[in-house]
Amino acid sequence: MKRLTVAIDGPAGAGKSTVARRVAEELGLLYVDTGAMYRAITWKALQSEIDLSDEQVVAAIAREAEIVLDPPEVLVDGVRVTEAIRSPEVTDHVSMVAGMAEVRRVLVEKQRQMAKDGGVVMDGRDIGTHVMPDADVKVFLTASIEERVRRRHLEMIRRGYASDPDRLYQEIKRRDEMDENRSHSPLKPAADAVMLDTTGRSIDEVVSMILDLCRTKVSGG
Ligand code: DC
Repeated sequence: MKRLTVAIDGPAGAGKSTVARRVAEELGLLYVDTGAMYRAITWKALQSEIDLSDEQVVAAIAREAEIVLDPPEVLVDGVRVTEAIRSPEVTDHVSMVAGMAEVRRVLVEKQRQMAKDGGVVMDGRDIGTHVMPDADVKVFLTASIEERVRRRHLEMIRRGYASDPDRLYQEIKRRDEMDENRSHSPLKPAADAVMLDTTGRSIDEVVSMILDLCRTKVSGG
């Protein structure tokens, strides 16, 4: 029998990766952070010092890169990039790379390959709409922009980066706009996704709500 598939989508800072990782742990499923894959390609493109706006060259990098997700570690061609892919430089360029149709095609193919036997919790922007349209459980996480700025600010400080909330506000707004308005697989909830606003809710609370959805699904509800 095909094992459970869970799609968790939403904008930056809605809490997707923390929540998705916990849900996967609780259910003993594989966790796939697709944002980390777009970041890994962006990191590699920046390292290669190519023209980042050249879609064909970036797509070739995406095709050749061997990305290993071994939560919480991320490796590209055997190099550990777990922290490097969260740097401000990668964050500044990732929406542009994620807007490239051919890069998306290559990464979506890899993601579907990882999900083909089920048993996955995958988070991203287009998982419920495009990567796993038949996912058993689809959740779209949101939070107010103020809350998302607050979370990113705390995360940046925890990671040892300087952080300015006003700059973060502008950056998150810019990324939201780019992710929502791009022509290929824009960020939008699947018609059958459960909408979950995480503003003012604890991680435990959100995780337990999603676990309830999964259990209902497994018990045939
Ligand atoms: O979730 P994140 O911040 O790590 O995602 C990094 C970028 O990748 C973000 O700008 C949106 C993009 N992305 C995407 O377009 N599709 C996905 N499935 C996951 C991330």
